[in-house]
Amino acid sequence: MADLAVSLLSADFSCLEKQLQELKEADVKWLHIDVMDGNFVPSISFGFPIVKTLRKAFLGVFAVHLMIQDPIRYIKEFAESGSDMITIHLEACEDVEATLRWIRECGCKAGLAVNPHTPIEEVYPYLHLTDMVLAMTVQPGFGGQKYIHSVTKKVETLHKYLNENGFDSVLIEVDGGICLETALEAADAGSDILVSGSSVFKGNIGQNVHDLLEAMNHSE
Ligand code: DX5
Ligand code: ZN
Repeated sequence: MADLAVSLLSADFSCLEKQLQELKEADVKWLHIDVMDGNFVPSISFGFPIVKTLRKAFLGVFAVHLMIQDPIRYIKEFAESGSDMITIHLEACEDVEATLRWIRECGCKAGLAVNPHTPIEEVYPYLHLTDMVLAMTVQPGFGGQKYIHSVTKKVETLHKYLNENGFDSVLIEVDGGICLETALEAADAGSDILVSGSSVFKGNIGQNVHDLLEAMNHSE
């Protein structure tokens, strides 16, 4: 069964406490925090002081998605700010292996993300150091974009590879453009966690969470 991670990028920060409460009431377990540096991606979002503050208001899994160049420089701060899982981009690291090892040494689960056009096979050498692979289904940098359907095939390939090579415990996450129309396609390909931002915060949060969970698990 696939689960939902909610990206805070599309939240209304002027009433964040209320929105976090609605996520809790909807039984959301994963919070996805998009950190952007204006370098690896064009936008700037928020950094570890925000993660630290949010930690007090939400008890679920804190998954930080670092869209920053050379993320190894900031792993310790994000770990100390209360992250449970830290996901870095393969394309942004000088030394992917050292970065993943450092995340685990800092006490967090390690996620490895790839952009839509990066071949999924590039993550294979790092799977023994990885708790979750994140396949981006949009170009990283902005919420509210359209799901890139060609990534579904990559997820299927990865899912098969993980099962056939003893990596069954490695989770697959997809991120970007997840809505009622795309959730089932991503889940059926083998995704364990689907990240959604704009589709959660547009309108009634509780209803949206319910509908997205229903859509992604429809065939079961
Ligand atoms: C994109 C971010 C995503 C994004 C998802 O760079 O990594 O997490 O906020 O937002 P939606 O669901 O609106 O595509
Ligand atoms: Zn993200």
